[in-house]
Amino acid sequence: MTTIRTFHAPGRVNLIGEYTDFNGGLVFPCAINRGTQVTVTEDASVSGVALSSEQLEFSGTVNVAVDAQPVDKQWVNYPLGVMVEFARLGFNVDGYKFHYSGDLPQSAGLSSSASISVLTAFAVNALVGADLSRQELALLAQRSENDFINVQCGIMDQFVIAMAQADFAIALDCDTLKYQQVPLSLGEYRIVIGNTNQPRELKSSAYNERVAECQSALAILAPLTKVEQLAHVTPSQLKEHSHLLTDVVVRNRATHVVEESDRVKRATVALENGALEEFGQLMYQSHVSLRDLFEVSSYTLDCMVDLASNTEGVIGSRMTGAGFGGCTVSLVHADKVEPFIVEVGRQYQKSTDLEASFYVTTATDGVSEVQS
Ligand code: GLA
Repeated sequence: MTTIRTFHAPGRVNLIGEYTDFNGGLVFPCAINRGTQVTVTEDASVSGVALSSEQLEFSGTVNVAVDAQPVDKQWVNYPLGVMVEFARLGFNVDGYKFHYSGDLPQSAGLSSSASISVLTAFAVNALVGADLSRQELALLAQRSENDFINVQCGIMDQFVIAMAQADFAIALDCDTLKYQQVPLSLGEYRIVIGNTNQPRELKSSAYNERVAECQSALAILAPLTKVEQLAHVTPSQLKEHSHLLTDVVVRNRATHVVEESDRVKRATVALENGALEEFGQLMYQSHVSLRDLFEVSSYTLDCMVDLASNTEGVIGSRMTGAGFGGCTVSLVHADKVEPFIVEVGRQYQKSTDLEASFYVTTATDGVSEVQS
């Protein structure tokens, strides 16, 4: 009898702590109630691995070799890159069919790519008995995105998708990978994701540029402050030395990273103390910094955050993920969620000619096998 196994990985929303992960800083994401599924069937007649997805419009086989090269169809490289990593560890996944489906919008800042990568890593791990821990799977998936896809992303997305627990957000130190599962006690408030539906190509070049600018800032600040990661520079050290960052773009990037990491600390404490309004204020500040200092927001994201901030029942709102279009995340009072969706949607359409989508989410579990 043919064995069919199904696995599920969520997407993620980052509540606060953007562009801090590859700078050794803090992030505070949770997994969401939308994600990706893969159904895996053993089929000895397949030479290589068969990958297919209706939504992602692909059906074909790939050869997984240690020196396999990326293919033209972009999303295929996410599972392929992960399988190549397993091949390098000596595990072979030939003779399987992987069929992907899901309800996570693509390229919308909710980590559809990390969802596919971690899902594939988790499934392959189970199929070949590689016995890697969830954390090792997250690192493997990140490595494949860095090396195979050539995006120098941090660990946030893969980590939360691998490690998340329902009703908790993860306060992760991306330098040491020490983390704390923090109860996401939002009381009467709900997490509402607003999708700008602004088509966002993966701005991998703009992303990698930000990585390089942060490295330039670190190269100047490290000898003076003895830190090894940009996010470890304290706000007062930055103030003392910022005149040495003569390139204003580099100075702005560094200021964002240092202040954003500090905001994550304050936000997790605020949440633990039930100070939700303070948490929301920090979200607004994060958005302004991403817009003005890190320059990864967009007209549509700014418009949606502005509209949210003027809507009754909203205590915080910001862009989430890599930006350049994609999604916002807002904290909205439960009684006001429906009017929020109607009003923000209506005014957003008036300003941008685009129709927004909204997803109300709870914090969900990370990747798992679906028991049939
Ligand atoms: C993307 C990357 C993450 C992180 C965010 C920005 O989602 O994959 O590693 O850098 O952007 O916070």
